[in-house]
This record gives sequence, C-alpha cells and structure tokens, in this order.
Amino acid sequence: MLTSSLLFSVLASLTFVAASPLFVRQTRSYPNPEPCTGNCTGGIHDPSVIKSPDGKWYRLSTGGDIAIASAPSLTGPWEYLGAMLPGGPKIHVSDKQDTWAPDVSLIDGIYYAFYAVSYIGFQDSQIGVATSTTLEPGSWTDHGSLGIPLSKSYNLIDPNLFRESSSSPIYFSFGSAWDGVFQTTLDSSTLALASTSSVNLASNSTVPPGQTWPSVTEGSYQFWWQVGSKKWYYLFFSSGACCNVPPNLAEPGDEYKVMVCRSASQSGPFLDQAGRNCLTQNGGTLVLASHGDVYAPGGQGVLYDSTLKQPVIYYHYGELLFSKPRSLVNRKHSLQSSETEYWIRLEPVSIWV
Ligand SMILES: *[C@@H]1O[C@H](CO)[C@@H](O)[C@H](O)[C@H]1NC(C)=O
Ligand SMILES: *[C@@H]1O[C@H](CO)[C@@H](O)[C@H](O)[C@H]1NC(C)=O
Repeated sequence: MLTSSLLFSVLASLTFVAASPLFVRQTRSYPNPEPCTGNCTGGIHDPSVIKSPDGKWYRLSTGGDIAIASAPSLTGPWEYLGAMLPGGPKIHVSDKQDTWAPDVSLIDGIYYAFYAVSYIGFQDSQIGVATSTTLEPGSWTDHGSLGIPLSKSYNLIDPNLFRESSSSPIYFSFGSAWDGVFQTTLDSSTLALASTSSVNLASNSTVPPGQTWPSVTEGSYQFWWQVGSKKWYYLFFSSGACCNVPPNLAEPGDEYKVMVCRSASQSGPFLDQAGRNCLTQNGGTLVLASHGDVYAPGGQGVLYDSTLKQPVIYYHYGELLFSKPRSLVNRKHSLQSSETEYWIRLEPVSIWV
C-alpha cells in the first residue's frame, strides 16, 4: 500500500512537473501522510528519528521530558518506551520551562541528543545535550548546557547537528524567531562548542497581517544531497505560526509550513529555487504546507532511508477537528513519514537549475 500510493504520487508529480513547470507552485498538491500505526498521535511534536544499527527505528519528541518511542519500520507500529530525561534536564531557566525539540545523531558509537529548555515567548533559553550508547530510556546521561551564549538576535531552541561524513567538521544550527536560524561549530572530538560566535543562515523580515512581529523562521534541519556532479546543502526550516490553537489560528498561509533553501556550502549563502537569498531577501521555497486534514506541518527532519532507497521527510502536523460547537476543537500531532515527492521537487535536474 505504501509503495503504490507512493509511486502514484511520484509519477503524478513527475508528469506534472514535466508538463508545466511554471505552474507547479501555484497549483501543486501535497501527498498525504503515509500510514503511521501505534503511538503516532496525541502530542508528538518536533520528532527526531534515527535508525539503530540493528534496524530498529527510534523517535524522540518534544514534551514528556523528551518522549522516546521505537518501531520496526517508519510506518510503525510505534511503541512509547519512556522519557529521555525523567525528572527533567539539569538546565534550569524558569519554573515554567519545558524540554523541546530533540535532535539525535550517532557519532563514533555514541548517540548525542541535543534539546532545548524554554517556554513559549521566552528568549533566554538554553540548548543542552545528553548521551547514550543504546537510545533506550534509562541509558541517558545529561551533560547540561552546551554553553552557546545568549543573544538578543536569537533564541536557543531547535538544535540540529549536521556532519557530512565521519571526517567532516560538525556544524550546529539553532533558533529561533527573532533573527531566525543561526549556525555555529562543534569540536569533532569533544562535541563541545568550538566557537562562541555564530552566523545567521536564514531569516524572514515579513510582518504577517494581524501581527506586530516578523514571521518566525525556526526548526532548521540540514541535509546534503548530490545532484549529478554537484553537491548541495539543503537547509529545511519551519516558517510561520507553529503552535496557534483555535480560535486563534494564523491567517491562512501564515501558519507553520516547511521551506527549503540550498547552498554549495554548509554555511551559506542559502538561496531558494527562485534565486532569492534566504537571509537577506526573505527567500525560501515551499516544500509542504497545510492541505486537506493536514494543518500547519513543521518540526521536520530529513533522512535517507536505505530500505526505501530514498530521502524521506518526517514532520508533525495538527489535525483540526471541527465539531459542534466550534469551540470544541482538538488537534492531534502525528509523526508521519513522507516520500520522494518532496524530494523530487528539490531535484535541480528537472526543476531547480
Ligand atoms: C504515546 O506517547 C506519549 C509520549 O509521546 C505518551 O505520553 C503516551 O502515554 C503514549 N501512549 C501510549 C498509549 O503508550
Ligand atoms: C515569510 O513570512 C510571510 C508572512 O508570514 C510568509 O507569507 C512567507 O511565506 C514567509 N517566507 C518564508 C521564506 O518563510
């Protein structure tokens, strides 16, 4: 079932792209989320997904002191295993704090899970790190703050570690609302901060209607991909209003959505498909937006799935369940794996030269 719906959307999109590339953006449709069974709904926010060497998938997500779940495949069945940091992190920034947006990577046999400690609207957040050799609850050692300095330009949330290969430098992005996404570097042998300075990668200065502050750019995720003889660094990010709930929903189009920019270098400059600079010209190419029952997708990550033999984007979304009276509206968040349709749209060979 997975394969046929997937192939169908891929073929449909290819035919469509080939037939009328100019109209792709205006009229495009998004593939529906792939099936997800087991623990997929009820507050799975900002998922970070990794496959262990024995083939089992693990998912870390916001809330519940970083909830850990595992599954035999991306589509499930997902089983909740427990908290990464039971009792909370070492970091204390406020009594109102929560632990958000984990980002897990395997480096030299050790899993590093970065996480943010914050609450909505707070700017003096911290990014911390915990390590484990198995990913299982009970195996994690919390090392506390990474020590990235505070700044009025960013907020220390939404960490993402990017390392192209085991001999490459380690880039680390974060942020943020305020001036958007920033990047610093980590020391490859100690995984500690290599520098206290950071560079701004992406920002959106547009002030959406009905709002007095600029649109939010956050939740960055870097991924590299070779296209022909060229290697590109893609910067995916979540744009817009992340966590608004009825009746205070953002104007249509201003709610969370996934954007992408790319560069020939890990640190930019990143440009979108139309050639706009993603730091200075509010650039960003829309990858995934609300459609059908999928509301405000974001908190995404990208991975190469060696079973499917293709890159996969996974994300959370809210499902708006309108019932009578309208005030009884719930939202569910789901981890959903998706498929190449998004990735095909990023292939410069056919549509992005
Ligand atoms: C599903 O996972 C969440 C954490 O993400 C947990 O709070 C909840 O208890 C789990 N539900 C079940 C039925 O295991
Ligand atoms: C910038 O913000 C505006 C207003 O919310 C939005 O319409 C646009 O899609 C955003 N652009 C990017 C690249 O995030």
